[in-house]
Order: sequence, then C-alpha cells, then structure tokens
Amino acid sequence: MIRLNIVILAAGKGTRMHSDKPKVLHALAGQPLLQHVLETAAVLAPVQICVVYGHGGDAVPAAMANYNSSFVLQEPQLGTGHAVQQALPLLADDSVTLVLYGDVPLIQHATLKQLLQTPDALTLLTQRLEHPTGYGRIERDKAGKVISIVEEKDATAAQRDIKEVNTGILAAPTQLLRQWLSQLRNDNKQREYYLTDIVAMAVAQGVDVNTAQPAHDWEVFGINSKLQLAELERMWQQEQARHLLLQGVTLADPARIDVRGKLVCGRDVEIDVGCIFEGEVHLGNNVRIGAYSIIRNSSVAASTQIAPYSHIEQSEIGVNCRIGPYARLRPGSKLHTDVHIGNFVEIKNSEIADHSKANHLSYIGDSSVGSRVNIGAGTITCNYDGVNKHRTIIEDDVFIGSDTQLVAPVTISRGATIGAGSTITKNAPEDTLTLSRAKQLTVAGWQRPLKKK
Ligand code: UD1
Ligand code: MG
Repeated sequence: MIRLNIVILAAGKGTRMHSDKPKVLHALAGQPLLQHVLETAAVLAPVQICVVYGHGGDAVPAAMANYNSSFVLQEPQLGTGHAVQQALPLLADDSVTLVLYGDVPLIQHATLKQLLQTPDALTLLTQRLEHPTGYGRIERDKAGKVISIVEEKDATAAQRDIKEVNTGILAAPTQLLRQWLSQLRNDNKQREYYLTDIVAMAVAQGVDVNTAQPAHDWEVFGINSKLQLAELERMWQQEQARHLLLQGVTLADPARIDVRGKLVCGRDVEIDVGCIFEGEVHLGNNVRIGAYSIIRNSSVAASTQIAPYSHIEQSEIGVNCRIGPYARLRPGSKLHTDVHIGNFVEIKNSEIADHSKANHLSYIGDSSVGSRVNIGAGTITCNYDGVNKHRTIIEDDVFIGSDTQLVAPVTISRGATIGAGSTITKNAPEDTLTLSRAKQLTVAGWQRPLKKK
C-alpha cells in the first residue's frame, strides 16, 4: 500500500464570483465545493489531507472543521506551484502526493485511483477539448511522450493548437515533488510559480510522465463564476437523474428533480416534478412523491404516498401512509403504519402509531399519539408555556373533536372522546366524553339593532 498525501488548492480569490464569500464555500448540490473534494479525498484513505487556503480569514478552516484535514495559509498567492510549496512541510517523504482543487468539486475517486497506479511516476490528469482556450496545453514529442505543459499565456501559436489540456490534477512521488518545487522560477508571462513546470523537470530527470483521463467531463469542470456554478449544478443533477432512471425510478421529468445529497430508492418509486431531496433520503418500494415536495434526511417506507407540496425533515414515515398535500413534518416526527396526515397539518417531535389520522389544519408537537386515533380539524397541542415545552399523550382509540386545544402536559386516556371546540387543561379519563364548552343559549325575542336614521 502506498502512503498518500492529498493537497487541495483553494487559495484563489474567485474574483469572478463577485461575492464576499470565499469561492470554495459556495454550494453545489447543497454543500460547499470544497466539501465535495474533501469527501472524495477521504475515500482514498490518505495519511494526510492538506487544504491550502488564502482568502476570507478563517472562514474556510472554520467551515470545514469537521473534516480531518490540515489547513495552511498561502499569503500572498504566487501561483499553483507556490501554493503546493506551502503544504510541503506537512508531507511525509515516503509517499505519493495527489494535488486536487477546491473549485473542481466533482472529481470522482475512480478517476483518482487511476492516477495512483504508477507511484514512481508523475501522473497528470488530462482531457481533450475542442475549445482548449485558457488551459495549459500538454506538449508531447513525436513518440507521444509528454515533454512539458505550456500555459496558454506563454504558448506559441502552434502550441495553442494542441487540444489536450492540463486539468491541473496530478500525482507525484513526494520526495521528487519537493525537489522540483524548490527549483521553480517565475520567469513567465504571469510572474507566477507554475506547478506545471515540474513536468519538464521530471522529463529532464528521466522520470516517467504518465497521463490519465477522467471518466466524465464534468469531473474536471472548475468553477470560476456563478454561471459555471449553475452549469455544473445542472450537469450533476442530470447525472443523478440518469442514475435514478437506470435503477428503475420513474421521474416525471428528469430535468426537474434536485438531489442535494444521497437519495436511495426501492423498486417502483415514482417522483413527480419539482421535488428536492436533501441530505440522506430513503424511499421504500412503491413510494410515490407528489410534485414540489421537499424531503430532507428522512425515510419513507414502502407504499406510502406523499401528495404535492409536502415538506418533510428528519422524519421517519412508516408503510402505507398518506401524507399531504401541504403537510409539514418537522424533525423528530415518527409515523407508524397507515397514518394519514392531511393538508396544513404540522407535526413536530411526535410519534403517531398505526392507523391514526390528522387530516386537516392541525399542530401536533411534542406528542405521543396511539393507534386508531382520529384528530379533528383545527386541533392544536399547546406544547409551549412561553418558557418550557411539555408533552401531550393521546392514547389508543381516542377521538378528538375539531377545533380543540390540548394544553400540555396533558393525557387523553384510551378510548376518550373530546367534544369539538374544547380547551383541555386536565387529563381526560378513558372511554368517556370530555368537553369544555360554554352552554349554548338561545335568546327568545332578541332583535338585531337597526341602522340609526
Ligand atoms: C491552471 C494550470 C493550467 C490548467 C488549469 C486548469 C498552472 C500554472 N496552470 O491554470 O495548466 O490548464 O489550471 O484549470 O497550474 N491557486 C492557489 N494559489 C495560487 C494560485 C492558484 O491556491 O497562488 C488555486 C486556485 O484557487 C485554483 C487553482 O489553484 O483552484 C488553479 O488556479 P488558476 O489560477 O485558476 O490556474 P489557471 O491559471 O487556470
Ligand atoms: Mg492563474
């Protein structure tokens, strides 16, 4: 096993983003560009990940504090070679160093593995482009061997015709990299220390220079502007939609789904247009998701149907449930089998057992609801006294009449019925009717006031 260091360059200013936020912290598919790279890097199990950052003070290290990586500041930024130099003190010699970029977020680990197959060589990730403008060109000799990388600004007209370009991503034996970087000079058009100059040094020293290509073009697409960010977002969403379709998921329109994280689907899942999936979402067999629903970090078990415009976050939904339209399940909602949650019903931090229903306009917070419970329209659990939250317990087979307030802490015991329009502040006993309601009164002979002349 080779020991692997990964250096991620992320010091560039990102001027064309026109933003106060460091470029690598802008989000693609719901997470910062740099986070995508850190997650891919971690899959390769390196001994060290080192992020070279530059702008935004501590914003970059602070945002990525959960990742097991080191951060070194590059200040000023004198080029890609100078950036890698900043990381050298952290890198062990008997290892290979892989250079990645914080603004090239979708590089895949299968592609990177190819770069690590010849640990004694310098291996470049290159790409053929019909329109290579702006990129460093890969110069090869007659035998096809790489001899150098020429930056666009330093290239001759003939070199500019070369269609094979440098993606920037490369792997090299650390000891050699250290040696080469110490010899870099900035006598070029941009007065920068170019990482790409190490190629000619390797060639001069007789070290093999190999190349590999990414499996997909989007893997090496770099972000410099909001336009490119939006373009890559669409490419990535298309790619994920393609995967879902190939797995057998039915998408009403593959151009109108957004997966910002990981979506795992069973068989015969159907997803209508405009849905957004965030974090990790699991959909069981035969689940149907209605249009414009947003589901975050949740699981939906088999045969459940989510009607349009439902919002579901950190919730667990059992089999055969009916949710929405316009339902909102907030964190900590756990619904068992055959639960119906209808329009304009909000559930938070509550468990609802089998066959129970809350079909219209209710708020159920911090509650435990038993089986076969019917919660009438407009029922509200008053869980907050202004300082503390309290629980509402609704046992099996309870019927709550419409427009009821249950002032927590309170227990509605098994089989109880609550009359419509009640404000319940004390526990309601089993199998009886409890209600709190002013007596109805009819005033005989009462007349409506008349308009004054
Ligand atoms: C670089 C390559 C070029 C390649 C292109 C691919 C060099 C000299 N050239 O050119 O061959 O085709 O990438 O996009 O390497 N960075 C730092 N510190 C610096 C300078 C850059 O961290 O001092 C980072 C940037 O944040 C960026 C990356 O390195 O992520 C590339 O820098 P950039 O200036 O965009 O390089 P190019 O000139 O495009
Ligand atoms: Mg540059």
